[in-house]
Amino acid sequence: MRRATGVFYCLALLLHGCLIVDAAKILVYCPSISKSHILLCAKYADLLHNAAHDTVLFIPSYSTPLDNFDGAKHAKVWRLHNVTDAYDQKFDSLASVMEDSHIGFIDRLRYDVDFWMEMCEDYVRQIHRLQHLADYKFDLAMFNDIDPCTPAIVRYLNISKTVLLSSEAIMDKIAWDLGLPLLPSYVPSMEENPNHDRMSFFERMSNAYKYFQSIVVHYLQERRVLHIFQEHISPDFPAIREIIRNVSLVLVNTDEIFDISRAFSPKFVYVGMIGADNNVALPKHLDEYFSKGKLGSVFVSFGTVTPFQVLPHRIQLSIFNAIQKHPDYHFVLKTSSGGSFGKNLESISYLNITDDNTTAQLFCDVPNVDFVNWVPQNAILNHKNLKLFVSHGGMNSVLETMYYGVPMVIMPVFTDQFRNGKNVERRGAGRMVLRETVGNETFFDAIDEVLSDKRYQASAKRISQLMKNRPFKPEERVAKWINFVLEHDTAEHFHLESNSLSFIEHNHFDIVFMFLVLPVITIFVYRRFKSKSKQ
Ligand SMILES: *[C@@H]1O[C@H](CO)[C@@H](O)[C@H](O)[C@H]1NC(C)=O
Ligand SMILES: *[C@@H]1O[C@H](CO)[C@@H](O)[C@H](O)[C@H]1NC(C)=O
Ligand SMILES: *[C@@H]1O[C@H](CO)[C@@H](O)[C@H](O)[C@H]1NC(C)=O
Ligand SMILES: *[C@@H]1O[C@H](CO)[C@@H](O)[C@H](O)[C@H]1NC(C)=O
Ligand SMILES: *[C@@H]1O[C@H](CO)[C@@H](O)[C@H](O)[C@H]1NC(C)=O
Ligand SMILES: *[C@@H]1O[C@H](CO)[C@@H](O)[C@H](O)[C@H]1NC(C)=O
Repeated sequence: MRRATGVFYCLALLLHGCLIVDAAKILVYCPSISKSHILLCAKYADLLHNAAHDTVLFIPSYSTPLDNFDGAKHAKVWRLHNVTDAYDQKFDSLASVMEDSHIGFIDRLRYDVDFWMEMCEDYVRQIHRLQHLADYKFDLAMFNDIDPCTPAIVRYLNISKTVLLSSEAIMDKIAWDLGLPLLPSYVPSMEENPNHDRMSFFERMSNAYKYFQSIVVHYLQERRVLHIFQEHISPDFPAIREIIRNVSLVLVNTDEIFDISRAFSPKFVYVGMIGADNNVALPKHLDEYFSKGKLGSVFVSFGTVTPFQVLPHRIQLSIFNAIQKHPDYHFVLKTSSGGSFGKNLESISYLNITDDNTTAQLFCDVPNVDFVNWVPQNAILNHKNLKLFVSHGGMNSVLETMYYGVPMVIMPVFTDQFRNGKNVERRGAGRMVLRETVGNETFFDAIDEVLSDKRYQASAKRISQLMKNRPFKPEERVAKWINFVLEHDTAEHFHLESNSLSFIEHNHFDIVFMFLVLPVITIFVYRRFKSKSKQ
């Protein structure tokens, strides 16, 4: 029977070559943190389902507006409702994010540590509700550690093999936990950090400080989660860092062509852009919108969290100004994210969207603009007349845009988006605009430069060619690596020995100390000896 599924899989994969594997039970563990987070989990779940594994996408409910959303087309979906009220309540406090110029250390302690602990406590109190997961005897669990409680929950389920998903490029805390070298000299810290790999002295200083913040925040997260689990589950509960470093693989949601190169270990596999749906047809009215414009069209979308009407007025005006001064281009503006978010959007109170008539009123005299709610983004990026994408720089968006060779102007909102924006600049495929510096002409200048200087387009096309022609599709990497770790025990095999070194040993501080101190002692002893012998 199991062989039969393997043969079936072989037929299904004729194009990619044949794999005979036994079907395994795989858990994709995915709290409802955000829509894009669930969508990414669903892509993994569908992929492994199609690779003939018995795959369950398990969604503990954090955000009630997402209670009916899963995004899975094939895999089984199990849910756990009513896990916590804390997430919906706390999410309101994120409302101010667009107003603040940047998220500082104190904010990170508040959002990244306190934010999660109340939920973790709520969750652990009802952890018996997960017994059916433990009883199902999964062979492998995939999870993401944005919610610091997750690794401990997965550990509680006694699943022998684990795979970590990094929903951005390699996150600082994952690098730290898996013992990758500490290299803030050229590896930009992931969060709230507008830097790429070439930094001035002060940028390196700021980068090192951001890295330090990440590690402190992460250390506190792990300590408090451990405390909760030792109190409620078992006093012997293992350290979270040890749970994470024992994963078999880390699947990283980025791409080695677009992303800047950095050092990592064999446990890391780059699989950015899995399951990108390349075959969605563009609805007729959208095709018409994007075909307008003598010189081309421009798509403007800041993602589901920040549709146009929640942007500060100053930024709206700057975009308005840019559109008005580019009459030969047609702009398509994404306003409220109706569509795929559906009715649930209104229930996210922080967006406070009733009806987006304000945007329509603002643009009532501007002919070269149309508004859309939801769009099949891949189909739009593939549109012949599209010349530029103005976006917030979310990782998935940026990868897709680069894949289709469209230049970008990025205004980051939070987390890794600053880094993505800088990266696009580093690759010569666009410009980044920081929201605290936006004035009336900012968007005009950036958009004008990227549209008129053909080098941006050439760089974007070059990256697109490399991404399209790179060996091994991300789907293939995921399926084959997962099969490999299912069949073989490699978690320990791929351990970096840095894991067993102390911080001092890892960074050669002891050796540097010796090098500095030894000559001093030698000189000192020599002088004493000489002066003594003279006497
Ligand atoms: C969640 O709990 C509330 C009150 O305890 C209950 O009314 C509601 O039906 C529950 N929802 C689900 C989906 O179980
Ligand atoms: C996990 O394994 C331990 C040790 O065998 C056992 O005591 C515990 O009940 C198991 N946990 C679950 C959720 O089944
Ligand atoms: C991690 O792996 C090591 C080596 O295989 C093992 O000794 C240790 O118990 C594991 N720790 C946890 C928390 O699973
Ligand atoms: C900003 O741009 C708009 C549109 O071009 C223009 O009407 C307005 O006067 C400008 N405001 C300032 C302060 O320059
Ligand atoms: C939401 O919008 C309504 C109507 O425009 C307004 O009365 C209310 O104060 C707003 N709430 C927040 C939290 O901004
Ligand atoms: C928004 O515009 C639509 C159509 O023009 C109208 O039906 C609706 O009442 C307007 N809503 C508000 C809040 O003004």
